[in-house]
Amino acid sequence: MRRLIAPSILSADFNNLGNAIKMINQSEADYIHFDVMDGVFVPNISFGIPVIEHVNKIATKPLDVHLMIVEPDKFIEPFVKAGATILTVHYEACLHLHRTIQQIKNAGAKASVCLNPHTSVSVLEDIISDLDMVLLMSVNPGFGGQTFIENTYDKVKQLKALIEKKNCKCLIEVDGGVNMETGKRLFEEGADVLVAGSFVFNSENPSDTIAKLKLA
Ligand code: DX5
Ligand code: ZN
Repeated sequence: MRRLIAPSILSADFNNLGNAIKMINQSEADYIHFDVMDGVFVPNISFGIPVIEHVNKIATKPLDVHLMIVEPDKFIEPFVKAGATILTVHYEACLHLHRTIQQIKNAGAKASVCLNPHTSVSVLEDIISDLDMVLLMSVNPGFGGQTFIENTYDKVKQLKALIEKKNCKCLIEVDGGVNMETGKRLFEEGADVLVAGSFVFNSENPSDTIAKLKLA
């Protein structure tokens, strides 16, 4: 188990996005998490390729791009070209997931699959060996600042068991409602990467909060 932190810029002040990226660069954060929303897969629209491209020019941490969009296959190459180091697609948005994963790898990024809160870990049984990371949603995707869904702890345990059974090296990332309390328990259950948006950016000292979360 690793203890990695991926601050989500969805909760950053977009008028000062450059400063938020510089703060993350200088912090103990491991990745920068981007929530791309299309208004179809999720009931919200956020930002897309141009923003990632610009951030990539000043970011010194790997870009962890979470696509909450339908038909992600159409946009894999442009997102990787824009700077995505890890590209996450939703299980629920992919009809031919195996092909999509190969596309991500062929484009040169690490491949990750996200499960919505209602989707069972068991659906990954036949694809887990091909994945670099699995992202478990611990809120319904679309908005920052929501309440953590408690069932996620069990899903982390189930996913860890599946990874061990298949003897693969895939990381477990959890996204939504992460704070010091939920973060601590998630790390204990076996999560490797925690995404944190509002908890980091609404705090008085975001850099300090990132460092503390790492030790949760
Ligand atoms: C939710 C996004 C999250 C979000 C997390 O749809 O995928 O990454 O930014 O926000 P918090 O940490 O505020 O729950
Ligand atoms: Zn996310």
